[in-house]
Amino acid sequence: MKILMFSGSLRKDSLNKKLLLAAEKVLKNNSKVQITFIDLKTFNLPVYDGDLEINGLPENVNRFANLIADHQALILSTPEYNSSISGVLKNAIDWASRAKPNPLSGKAVLLMGASPGAFGAVKGLTHSRVPFEALGNFVFPITFGLPKAHEAFAESGELKDAETQKKLVSLLENYLDFSFKLKGN
Ligand code: FNR
Repeated sequence: MKILMFSGSLRKDSLNKKLLLAAEKVLKNNSKVQITFIDLKTFNLPVYDGDLEINGLPENVNRFANLIADHQALILSTPEYNSSISGVLKNAIDWASRAKPNPLSGKAVLLMGASPGAFGAVKGLTHSRVPFEALGNFVFPITFGLPKAHEAFAESGELKDAETQKKLVSLLENYLDFSFKLKGN
C-alpha cells in the first residue's frame, strides 16, 4: 500500500515534519507499505482563488492532486493555529478537492499533531478532520498529539520517551490494519 505523508506546516524546522519522520522511521522496514514523504513548501501552492482556477488548476496543484490520487492512504501531522486547523493544510485540501475526480475520496487518513505546548495540537485535530470527512475520507478515529514537542525528539529522530514511542508504533500498526481493511485486504 502506498502512503503519502505531509505536514500542515511549511517551516524548515517544523516539529510536525519531525513527527512524520519519526513515523516514517517506524514504517520504513514494513514490506507491505511504501511511503512518500512530501514537503508542501516545495509545492508553493497559491492561496485558493477562484479567478486562478478559471484558467485551470495551477500546475503545482495538479502535481499535488495527482500524488494523492496515486496513494491509497495519508498520514499527516499538523500544527494547530489558534486551536484550529492550519491554513496551510486547509488551503492544500481545498485545492486538491477541486481536481476531478476528487483524489481524496475513500482514502484513509491518520491525523497527528505536534506542539511545544502542553496539549500537542489535539484541539486543532478535531477541526482538521472536518474537511476530510466532508470529502469522503475515512479519518482514523484515534489521533495522536505530541505535547512539548520541542523537547521530544532524540538525535536518532525517534521519540525520547519510550512510552510515547511505543504509543506511536502501536498507533501506526492499528492505522495500517484499518487502511488495509478499508482497501479490502
Ligand atoms: C501557534 N501555536 C499554537 N500552539 C498550540 O499548541 N496551540 C495553538 O492554538 C497555537 N496557535 C498558534 C497560532 C499561530 C498563528 C502560530 C504561528 C503558532 C504554536 C505552534 O504550535 C508552534 O509554532 C509549532 O511549532 C508549529 O508547528 P511546527 O511549525 O513546528 O510544525
